[in-house]
Amino acid sequence: MATANASSRSGAATAVLTVEDLSVHYDTHAGPAKAADRVSFALQPGERLGLIGESGSGKTTVAMALMRLLRPPARIAGGKVTLDGRELLSLNEEDLRQARLRDIALVPQGAMSSLNPVMRVGDQIVDAIRAHSRGDNRNDISGRVAELLRSVGLDPAVAQRYPHELSGGMKQRAVMAISTCLAPKVIIADEPTSALDVVVQRQIMQTLGRLQDGLGAAVVLIGHDMGLIAQFSDTIGVMYAGKIVEIGPVRQIIEAPKHPYTRLLIDSIPGIKKKQKLRGIPGLPPRLVNLPECCSFHPRCPYAFGECKTVTPRQQEVAPDQRVACHLYPEHDRLPERPAATEVPA
Ligand SMILES: Nc1ncnc2c1ncn2[C@@H]1O[C@H](COP(=O)(O)OP(=O)(O)O)[C@@H](O)[C@H]1O
Ligand SMILES: [Mg+2]
Repeated sequence: MATANASSRSGAATAVLTVEDLSVHYDTHAGPAKAADRVSFALQPGERLGLIGESGSGKTTVAMALMRLLRPPARIAGGKVTLDGRELLSLNEEDLRQARLRDIALVPQGAMSSLNPVMRVGDQIVDAIRAHSRGDNRNDISGRVAELLRSVGLDPAVAQRYPHELSGGMKQRAVMAISTCLAPKVIIADEPTSALDVVVQRQIMQTLGRLQDGLGAAVVLIGHDMGLIAQFSDTIGVMYAGKIVEIGPVRQIIEAPKHPYTRLLIDSIPGIKKKQKLRGIPGLPPRLVNLPECCSFHPRCPYAFGECKTVTPRQQEVAPDQRVACHLYPEHDRLPERPAATEVPA
């Protein structure tokens, strides 16, 4: 597993992707839903960032903003995104078209259904290559398609097949071949293994890792399964209600999570070695148009106290490269024992 530069994550100067205070709002009748609220992180070349959070926490919104694929009622309400030295949010459509796939590529959520059902897989890869690059040598293209299929663990003969002739895992691989056809510097994979069985999930993650290593690309892996994300990532960012509430190197996050929500996500991973009581996360994710005041996690937080309802917590660096937005710090140096009285049955 690559550990590329995770320890220098804060080194924005060398980063391939820097996201600063990115905010995305959906304009709704009830007011703006802040689906991404001042999201910040830096990604080094080759780094694997896992972005985790419950459904509705804003992960796909961030992915779509980074691809500049948001459509109304979504709008970018602020922030700066620098991709390989270029300000992404101000690129015009033509530059964007060039940047997509070549610099930054998305394996979209539900990607398997994004394949065109009436077109052979190979033709779809050729289309992607042609749409995003000029002057490719036509004679080379079938060789390139075969190479791409091999790079995702598929037989080149799959080029002749239609999507309905492939299993779910094979379709996901075909989508990965399309997404990486121009050797992007950053790959965003949005829940690439949901809807696949556990064995296939693991194989797909291994393929993604190999593909990334081969390309030297950085990856943002989006998911809601802490076990899967932790196995893959160098760095973990935890999203709650549109905000990154904690981010840091994977070991520190798993062994010493600082945010109560991170702790609850880790406790919700089922153990395999010993039987343990599964702990759910109490309550439901909040509605974004009507967020709880200040720390939006406070109604579900076993540790909440007065200040959490009156002052919005700022991000603080609590350990090397580990940032958290929580009022327990800096008073505490680690997350205290979970208060027993607030345990909620799973
Ligand atoms: N088209 C839309 N109109 C209004 N709100 C939306 C729309 N799409 C998403 N949202 C809001 O944005 C939030 C984040 O959605 P999303 O980024 O898809 O979350 P995730 O990928 O973490 O499940 C949702 O909770 C929802 O409130
Ligand atoms: Mg999503």
